[in-house]
Amino acid sequence: MSKTLKVAEVSELKSGECKTVEVDGQTLALFNVDGTFYAIDNTCSHVGAPLGDGELIGNDVTCPLHGAQFDVTCGKALSGPARGDVKSFPVSLEGDDVLVELE
Ligand code: FES
Repeated sequence: MSKTLKVAEVSELKSGECKTVEVDGQTLALFNVDGTFYAIDNTCSHVGAPLGDGELIGNDVTCPLHGAQFDVTCGKALSGPARGDVKSFPVSLEGDDVLVELE
C-alpha cells in the first residue's frame, strides 16, 4: 500500500538545487528542475554516495563521489560507474508542501 508524505516545503529548494531528505525511514534525493520536483533513491548504485549532495544540471545529477550520472526524472543511470538505475518516486505539490508517494 502506498502512502503520500510531506518531505519538504517548496521554498526550501530553488530551481537547479537538490537536497537529501529523510521520510518514513527512507532517505531520498529531492530535485527542483525548473519548478518541477523529482525524488529518487538517495543511494548511488555504485557504492552508495548520497545523490542529494550531487550536482544537478538540467535533468541530470552527478554523483558527488565518482561522477556517475542519473536522470532525476526517472532514476535511469546515464553513465558509469553506476551499477544500475535507482528508484524514482512520484512527487506532487500541495500548497507549499512537497509530497512524495512511497510504497
Ligand atoms: S558512489 Fe556514486 S559514482 Fe561512485
